[in-house]
This record gives sequence, C-alpha cells and structure tokens, in this order.
Amino acid sequence: MPKAYGNIMRISGRRGLVCLCLLAGSAVADRQVVSFCDDWRFTKGDPADAVTVELDDSGWQRVRLPHDWAIAGPFNPDENGYAGKLPWRGVGWYRKTFRLEATDAGRCVYFDFDGVMAFPKVYINGQLAGQWDYGYMSFRVDATDLVRFGEDNLIAVQADTREHGTRWYPGAGIYRKVTMTLCNPVHLGHWATFVTTPEVTDERATIRVESIVENHTAHEANVRTVLAIHDPEGLRVARLEAHFKSPAGEDRAVGLSVVVPRPQRWDVDDPKLCRARLTVHRGDEVLDREDVAFGIRKFAFTADDGFHLNGRRVQLYGVNLHHDHGPLGAAFYPRAMERQLRIMKDMGCNALRTSHNPPAPEVLDLCDRLGILVWDECFDKWDATADRLRGVDLVEHNKRQLDNLVRRDRNHPSVVVWSIGNEIADVENNRGGRAREQVRVLSDYVRSLDPTRPVGMGCYIPSAVGTRVLESLDLTGWNYARRYAPFRELFPDKPIVYSESASALSTRGFYELPLPTVKTDYSTALQVDSYDLNAAPWSDIADAEFLLMEKDRFVAGEFVWTGFDYLGEPTPFSQEARSSYFGIVDLCGIPKDRFYLYRSYWRPDATTVHILPHWNWPDRLGKNVPVFVYTNGDSAELFLNGRSLGRRTKGQIPPRPQDFARGRPALAGTSQLNEGHVATQANDGDAQTRWCAADGQAEQWWQVDLGQVRPIRCIAVEFEREAKNYGYAIQVSADASSWTTITAKATSREPQWGGSREQFHEVDARARHVRIEFSGLQGGSWASIREFGVYPEKVESAYYEPTYRYRLRWNEVTYEPGELKAVAYKDGQKIGEAVVRTAGPAAAIRLTPDRTDLHADGCDLAYVLVEALDDKGTACPLADNRVRFKLEGPADIAGVGNGNPLSLEPFQADYRKLFHGKAMLIVRTQPSRDGMIRVAATADGLKPAIVTLQAR
Ligand code: GAL
Repeated sequence: MPKAYGNIMRISGRRGLVCLCLLAGSAVADRQVVSFCDDWRFTKGDPADAVTVELDDSGWQRVRLPHDWAIAGPFNPDENGYAGKLPWRGVGWYRKTFRLEATDAGRCVYFDFDGVMAFPKVYINGQLAGQWDYGYMSFRVDATDLVRFGEDNLIAVQADTREHGTRWYPGAGIYRKVTMTLCNPVHLGHWATFVTTPEVTDERATIRVESIVENHTAHEANVRTVLAIHDPEGLRVARLEAHFKSPAGEDRAVGLSVVVPRPQRWDVDDPKLCRARLTVHRGDEVLDREDVAFGIRKFAFTADDGFHLNGRRVQLYGVNLHHDHGPLGAAFYPRAMERQLRIMKDMGCNALRTSHNPPAPEVLDLCDRLGILVWDECFDKWDATADRLRGVDLVEHNKRQLDNLVRRDRNHPSVVVWSIGNEIADVENNRGGRAREQVRVLSDYVRSLDPTRPVGMGCYIPSAVGTRVLESLDLTGWNYARRYAPFRELFPDKPIVYSESASALSTRGFYELPLPTVKTDYSTALQVDSYDLNAAPWSDIADAEFLLMEKDRFVAGEFVWTGFDYLGEPTPFSQEARSSYFGIVDLCGIPKDRFYLYRSYWRPDATTVHILPHWNWPDRLGKNVPVFVYTNGDSAELFLNGRSLGRRTKGQIPPRPQDFARGRPALAGTSQLNEGHVATQANDGDAQTRWCAADGQAEQWWQVDLGQVRPIRCIAVEFEREAKNYGYAIQVSADASSWTTITAKATSREPQWGGSREQFHEVDARARHVRIEFSGLQGGSWASIREFGVYPEKVESAYYEPTYRYRLRWNEVTYEPGELKAVAYKDGQKIGEAVVRTAGPAAAIRLTPDRTDLHADGCDLAYVLVEALDDKGTACPLADNRVRFKLEGPADIAGVGNGNPLSLEPFQADYRKLFHGKAMLIVRTQPSRDGMIRVAATADGLKPAIVTLQAR
C-alpha cells in the first residue's frame, strides 16, 4: 500500500545500522522500522505531570537521540573521579509526539530501546506501556493497545539513574537509538529467529533457521514461511518453504534446515557474511520479513591449545572497551564505534571484550563486518551495577537480562563467548553458600538459549578456585598476574582466557625523567609517564604479558585493559582525574606510544617504526634522555643529527653492573634459623630464598661486608612483600662501627592494592659496609629481604627485562636539539624509518579530518585532529594553546577533547586547549541537510586553519 515514507526507514531486518539510507516505498505491507531519534523534548528533573498528554513541554530542551544528559557537565572538581566527576545521577524525562496513520490501524506497534540509563519507564498517551531494569540492556515495549491511529500520540520516557551502581561513567538518559516497528499482527517474534550452522565442512554447510510466528489476531492463519539463504556476494544459494496453520492468539515455532555447498567461511581475516531471509506469507500477501546476517564458521576453545577458528589456532589479541566514547559520553554513534574498532584493528586487535555490559547492537554488526571476535559480557557484578536492587531475586533478575542479551546477539558470528559477570568476589568466594548453584543455573540457562557458544566469566581470586563455584562454566576468564594458575591445576580440562591483562598506564605525550624504577613509581605531576614502564599495582606492562602469552599457549590469548581511555576509574589518580590512564589510545582516540608497541608485536608483517619520546627538552641540554623504538623489525640504528648512536637488536639485554654485595659475608640482628632464613640468603642472587628476622618486631637490622671500600651509586632491595610495608634507613660505614645514613624510607599505604616488592635507591657514597635498619613494619610483615644489591651505577629492575625483547632501547642518549632518526631492519633488510625533530615555537594550526565525505543523516561524524605546528611544519609536542572552532554549514560540534585525564574543560564547547600539542574536534552532520561544512580553527598568535567537509 502506498505510504508517506518521509522519515520512515524500511530496513532489511533488524540488523541494519541506525544510519541506514532511506529506501523508496514498496508495495509490501511487511514490517516497517521507523527511526525514533528525532524531535524529542527533554528535561532534567521529575515534573509530576511529565506523562500527561496535555502538558506543555515547549519549554523543554529539544534533543535528538542518542542523548547523554550528563556529558555536557559541569564537572564537579571535588568529587572522586571514579565516574568521571560528571552529573550523571538524577532523573530526566523525554517526550515526543508522533502521528500514526489511520491506514495503519490494526497493525502491531512496538518500541525498541537499545539502552536507557537507567530504570526506563515508557508511557504511551499517559499510560505505562513498559519498563526495564538494566540500563545497558536493549528491550522492547509493546504499545499496540495504547496507541491511537489517525491521531497524534505521545511517548514519554523517564530515565532514573539514582539507584544505578557503577565503577565508571555510565552516562544518563536515552543514550542509544530507539525505533518504532509497525507490523502485521501475524509476524515473526522479536529476537526469535536463530540461525545456526550445525554442520560445516569444506564441501557443505547445514544451515538451520528457527523462529516463531506470532498470531495476535482472533483468527487462525494459513501461512507459508520461505527461507532464502544468500551467499556473501548476495546470490541466493538455497531456498525452502514450510506451510502451516498459525493458531489464533498463539505462537508457532518453525524450523527449517538447508544445505549450502562449498560454504564461504566467516573468519577474522576475511569476514564473509551470509544472509538468511525469512518471509511469512498468507496467500500472496507478505505478512512479515526478516533478514539476518550470519556467518559460517567453526570455533572451539581448547584446554591445551587456546582458541581455534575454522580449524587453526588463532591467538586472541584482544582489548577491553567500556561503552563510553570520550567527549560524546555514553551517546552511541555507530560511526564513533566503527572508528574505535578500526583503530583497534589497525593495531592488530582481533578480539573485543564488551566490559562489562551488553554493547549497543551495532557494535556486533561492526565486529561481524570487521572480523573481530567478541566476548559478549552481560554484567560487572550482580548487584546495583546490574541494576539489581535490594530484595530483587538474583537468579530471576539475571536470567531476564541474559535472555535479552543472548536472544538479541546469538546470530552474530563474531560472538564467541557469553560472559555472565566480572570479578564477583561474593561468587568466587561463595559467600552465602549459594554461588555454585547460581553459576550453574545461569550457565545452564544461557546454554538453553544458545547451545553453540561457551559460557564464561571474568575471575580474579585464585585462592577461591577450591570452592568449585566455577565448575559449571565452559571456560573461565582470568584477570591479571597469571592468576589462572591454580585454576589450571585444578581444572586442567577447562579452557582459559586472559580476560584482562596489562592494566598499564600512560598519558599521551607526557614524559618524565628519570625513568620509573618500578611499575608503581608514578609521577607526582598527576600524569603517567609514556615510556610505558608503569602499570597498576595489580597488573603488568605490555611486554610482560606478551612474554606470558608466548609461554602459556594453553591460554587463548589476552584482552588488554583497555583499548581506549574511558571516563572514570582514573587509577592511580582516582581523586584528582576524571578519566582513565589505562588506554592504549587516549580518550579522543589519539594513539599513545603503546599503540605502536602493540602494533609492532600483534602485526609482525605490517611496518611499524615509532620513536619516543618527543625531542623538545630545553631543560635537559647535555643530559640523558633515553630513546625507545617500537618496531616490527628485529633491530634498528638510531641517529642523532646524523651521528649513529648504535644499533640495537631485540632480545639483547644490557649486562648488569657488578653487585658488590653478591655472596659477601652478611650478618643480621636476628634470623629465623629454624626456617633456614639466614642472613646470607639476602645476597645469594636467588630471589626465591630470603633472610627473615626471628620475630615481627620492627627493630631489626641486616648488613653486608663488601670486602673493600666501593663506590656506591645504587642500592636495590627486594623485600619479601610489597616494599610499601617496610620503613627503614640504609647506612654505610668504613669500619662497621660508626654508621652514616645515606637514605631512608617510611612505611606507606600507597599503592592501595599490591605494589612492587622492589625498592631502588640512587645514592652517592663510598663504603665497605652497608646496612639496613628497619624502623617500621606494617600489614603483618616481618623484616625480611629476598635480595639486597649494591651497585656502582644505576641498575634497572629485572622486571623490565622483557622490554628488551619487544622494544629497542637506547638508555643513554645525551640530549641535543635537532633530528632523531631510527632506521629499522628485519632479517637484515631495511623495512622503514621514523624521524622526530625538535620543534620551534608554535606558529600555525593544522586540522586533519579523518574523513571529508559525510552522510547527511544527523549521526555521521568527522573527527578532526587539531595540532600546533612550528614555522617549518613540525608538530609542537608541548603546545597547549587554546583553540577556538567555528562551523559553517549543516553540521554541529558533537564534542571536543584532548586526551588530558585531568582536564575539566567541557566536552561540549567551541574551544579546547591543546594537550601535548593535540586536540580533537568531533563534527556531526544534521538530518537531511546536505552541503558544504566549513571548519575553522583560530588561536591567539597562531595562523588559523580551515578545512571543508561535505555532507550528502
Ligand atoms: C579489574 C576490573 C576492571 C577494571 C580494572 C582496572 O580488576 O575487572 O573493571 O577495574 O581492574 O585495572
């Protein structure tokens, strides 16, 4: 029937992206999916009459979806940074008036919400039509009985985040898309169609399609369902029909199997997607139609050999991603996500963990298309972070959420694991005694919805494996520090994934010297050094994880925490900052140095040659500035102003200086003799053995005789437990009778969780005897030393040895301005080079858009990189100019950012300060408005820049 298709999108099934092109009308009255993103009114607060049709909402703010009411700020500088210091807590209302044609009377009307933060209540014409209780979950509301055809209707939605629990920035409001579906009352069920490939060989694949035909009429219908399978080129390769009676008011299951010869496989390298089209007919009439993209592939998680895809082992090079998009907040734009994933893919990433919640559905469409395997995670904890409020039955609540997640996502070939949670201490420790049963019931439930994928969970308490609560999972994910070891021992037949690795930390563009001596040696500048030697206390630098994954081939691979920086959880500056330091790229998607480290390792065949740091060190003329090169090559030569600084080769660890204390006579005040913890075990070169005092009293000492007076520049102590637990003074003496204190340290509560056992002291002394005298002990620690080393020069912790395997390091480079060049080689052949130059004062702005041709659909984005250049065109790595933006044409500023975790400048503004020379402007098109978009950037004292984009 003819229709006004003005803003109506007819999409092929429910798998289309939000920004689908508008198709011309068709004569078939099948399903219509209408975008419901435009023309909403929004107010913060909770007006009593918000649902009433009569309310005059003309004073409310006009908004388009996706909308996150909190991202505009303002920041609250006094608040802890765990959730981004943004005003996400509260109540907000959305209203929209829409008209339904009289000719549509009798059709079913559904509203599909991809995600509303939080506790959405949906009212149609003043009546509650539906609600949901998980802010990350997609849900459907049936409005059929409440709408009026041939008239205006009102939809009002309340979002209420007051009881939402979180450990990061959740966003607030209708932050994902909404659609309205109109369909014949005899139609396929929502998320009912399930495509599986029970048999896949090179010769043939069996494709099974199951669905449900719902009959919402009072009459039995004679229906015919037709299944057509289209290959990746769009060619129809199989067709099958089934005739049956659809009883009045009932659901009827249908199942069809077809065989496809010589199937083209979906794979990470070549993600071939097929299409199953299921059409429901009554006579000549098409009642409903659904297209489902699916992939033909075989995979298995094995206990001994990691992950197999289509018969070969594939190492998972994964990242964890939270749901926010930096300056855009939680508002979900498919284009922003596509950019994220493409950046990750360029780095060599082939797997994504949707930590720790259901993603927007388009994320999985993108992963299907890009060849990215997905660990699809439903929850963080099973508490208020899952919007499970006190008194709500855990199993009932979780089952309901899992039901939506699995039904929604089970056709995506990219999805290879269902995860039912992350680091749930109560569960792993079986507090309350019911965890084992809960895990079993939930895992079984997921398997009943989809028997083709394993059920897993992110775990972190090694000592809890004895409770056997994890037994009913098909696989376990483990977070950090090889914590999977005890599980592996107890359950050698269960596959293991390293679900979180390398919570390493850095700030893009920030370098501080001297280099950190241990991973938790953080800068006092509230930024984290980009030499990539820092990690969270409980975790490790990238290189340590590379090595671990090479050794533990039974593990399927790692998911790095995290691919992108995100809003909230700004470890280690949790109070001061508002976004994380964990990302491999910054909050705007600008790569940090680490990006190139991963790329060089994860993509051995793609050329990467990257030099760090920048070469603007006016305060370090004539002083040391170490240089690292990240390359897929095996060696490189470094040149400073044309002079070679030598060639470095991966795997060559520089020799350590002589340890004057090693094997020398040692004494201690007391020793735990019965355990064999004698004084000389603290300087035997074996960190497994140790000296320990006879009791837990603080006044203990240990000393060593170096045999002769030695020049001492560095003292390295490895304690039994984290170094923060020990307070002490280090003293030296020529005769072992009069002592001089050369350095001292008090006990410390930092870092809060874990921390390094090692402590390095740079000193300047000459002495024969060296002594450590304890003054304070905490946390049940006794005075005890694994290794005590005395060196004539600075030594580096053995912890950093793996860095020589994966990076090339020139630790001693005397700084002079000019040009630093690295020439990289692989197997003796030059593969590429990189250059960094000292920049002069900032003179001009440069704008670099990631794309210039945009869709005029109101949700397409261009990311415009903003940089300061000197008068020769060299990027200025320290520039912090404030840049102002002006747009002309059919576009708006969607957000601005610069990757500085401390910045409290608004994300929604027409200006931004550069941070280490860079910032990002995000431009969004307007719906149905094409034309030229002119982007201008100005800053005091700099030559302005202009770029043009085109919306069509
Ligand atoms: C993990 C947790 C993540 C994140 C991470 C930071 O323990 O699962 O959500 O908090 O630590 O290192």
